[in-house]
Amino acid sequence: MKKINLSNPHIEALEPYMSARRIGGKGEVWLNANELPFPRQPMSLDVSDYHRYPDEGPDLVQAAYAAYAGLQPDQVLALRGADEAIDLLLRAYCRAGTDGIIISTPTYGMYQVCANIQNANVIDVPLTENYQLDVPSILAQEGIKLVFICNPNNPTGNSFNREDILTILRFFEGRALVVIDEAYIEFCPGESLVSEMVNFENLVVVRTMSKAFGLAGVHVGYLLANETVMVMMRKVSAPYPLADPCAQIALQSLNENATQLMNQQVHQISQIRDSFCEALADIPDVTNVVHSVTNFVLVFFGNNEATWEALTEAGVVARRIPHSRLAEAIRFTIGTTEQMAMVIHILKRLS
Ligand SMILES: Cc1ncc(COP(=O)(O)O)c(C=O)c1O
Repeated sequence: MKKINLSNPHIEALEPYMSARRIGGKGEVWLNANELPFPRQPMSLDVSDYHRYPDEGPDLVQAAYAAYAGLQPDQVLALRGADEAIDLLLRAYCRAGTDGIIISTPTYGMYQVCANIQNANVIDVPLTENYQLDVPSILAQEGIKLVFICNPNNPTGNSFNREDILTILRFFEGRALVVIDEAYIEFCPGESLVSEMVNFENLVVVRTMSKAFGLAGVHVGYLLANETVMVMMRKVSAPYPLADPCAQIALQSLNENATQLMNQQVHQISQIRDSFCEALADIPDVTNVVHSVTNFVLVFFGNNEATWEALTEAGVVARRIPHSRLAEAIRFTIGTTEQMAMVIHILKRLS
């Protein structure tokens, strides 16, 4: 057989994104993907229309999410996860080889991955020493179409100063979109920028049901934006973005009882996180715990390698982040009380 290589050279040069599932691991305690540890309750699905394509949108899901987020339905686009929203923004706004995006690392890896696929320039303006946005350096960049701000930030778990974000939004008005990734916003709702959408045409918010709603397996996310951005998004989004089973589950998860349960579980996780952080303070090998407003915590160790080995041996799958500033850190998703007690027990034994 004749071997031919037709691949696009800049794609051929890429490495596939190493998601938590791809990295994998061995063990019973999964604390690596910022998922909720509580199993979902059974739901009923109406399959009678499954011989037809699903509704575009679907309108009911977008309307339900709009009511939840305090927006109009035409400001909501339901997608296959927040990741699809990030990808569509890159494709709609960045010309390959010409336009750029700003990211502030350490941050969520998919901004860079989607930019690489689109062959957009990536300008990294690293976070400051205390993991805040370096505003003067961000404002000094040129040729930018999208500024990605993950608030609260993954993997550090902290939120950014609101005034800094507003300064960036004001500066880039008419020049670039500022995309706020609010994947973890339910854990700190007061930090949301959605209320600023009336003031800024260039503000885009990305959300997901994979985290606080506990629906990572259903993979539904949302892009929230004003009309000019939505016009562009409709041009690049796939037909029937949500499969109907996902749409039905998303819809049921946005009713009053379900959002109440979500809020209870968010509260529970926040309490477990705070107790976990208190317990970490007593472990001599812990050199720093970044203040988290999310369902995960970034912890630095004196002897990170030995800690990682001890966790792995005990069947705890956490996450190491491939970033030079985080070589001594491990990110722990907050699991159940028992799971976090187990982590503390392992760390104490090691110390
Ligand atoms: C900051 C951030 N944004 C987006 C996502 C992806 O969300 P989704 O599961 O909706 O694609 C994640 C997942 O870990 C995330 O941490």
